[in-house]
Amino acid sequence: MSVSPEPKTPGERVPPHSPLGAYYDADEKRSRYVVDLFNRTARHYNTIEALFLNGGLLYRRYSLRRAGLRPGMKVLDVAIGTAAVARGAAKLVGREGQVYGVDPSTGMLGEARRVFHGPLTQGVAERLPFTDNTFDFVTMGIALRHVSDLVTTFREYLRVLKPGGTLWILEGHIPRSRLGHQITRFVWARVIPGMTLLSTRSRDAKLLMDYYWDTVEQCVPPETIVRAMNEVGFEEARYRVVVPGAFCEYTGRKGQEPAS
Ligand SMILES: C[S@@+](CC[C@H](N)C(=O)[O-])C[C@H]1O[C@@H](n2cnc3c(N)ncnc32)[C@H](O)[C@@H]1O
Repeated sequence: MSVSPEPKTPGERVPPHSPLGAYYDADEKRSRYVVDLFNRTARHYNTIEALFLNGGLLYRRYSLRRAGLRPGMKVLDVAIGTAAVARGAAKLVGREGQVYGVDPSTGMLGEARRVFHGPLTQGVAERLPFTDNTFDFVTMGIALRHVSDLVTTFREYLRVLKPGGTLWILEGHIPRSRLGHQITRFVWARVIPGMTLLSTRSRDAKLLMDYYWDTVEQCVPPETIVRAMNEVGFEEARYRVVVPGAFCEYTGRKGQEPAS
């Protein structure tokens, strides 16, 4: 099945990437495959993060502050993983605020529990176990490619945000130029999986980084993601490249009037 470049009719399903036959044999098996992979590699995730000198942790916090996260706010961090986003968010909202985490992987939730003291729930982005109009901020770090459908996911984000609330998403980035793409591929498809294998001695951890690159390379373009945000009713939906060849960011706001 090929991925549509853009939603053609309102409500059309927009998977973030085409099925990847090298990893699972049918699209229905994708979610199970992804959760199993994160369960098996959860204990290595922070070692991989440390390969980047934990710069990603600092960056996530800096970016959340720039996006408007303030003391006292209530945040939902979807795909909390080892709490790389949630830890930064918790520092910014302080004692008066609160950060909730959700993730389908029990392995990742176990790792999050070691360093994060807010409420944790098992669940997926496409069906959030929270009531409408609950959060000032919804965040998602490096996980949008793992959802089954962007439209359903963004609808859920809009539903749980309070009017005026903010959506913040960090994702992988590939430069558009041929040379930039080639350099990025060399780094993410060769160097980083190799360093991951050396530092963790885990073939599963290397597989996780192989999978990371393949999903980033196969991901629909940023314009499609922004269009899906607009389609469900986000205002000021936009993306910006943060570190070329590494990260880009998506932000959007829920209007003061509930979207129909
Ligand atoms: C690369 S980790 C990101 C962790 C963390 N947010 C960060 O910024 O480092 C991706 C996470 O997405 C989670 N995940 C996979 N499928 C998901 C889904 N459908 N909904 C929510 N989270 C999902 C995985 O279990 C994993 O913990």
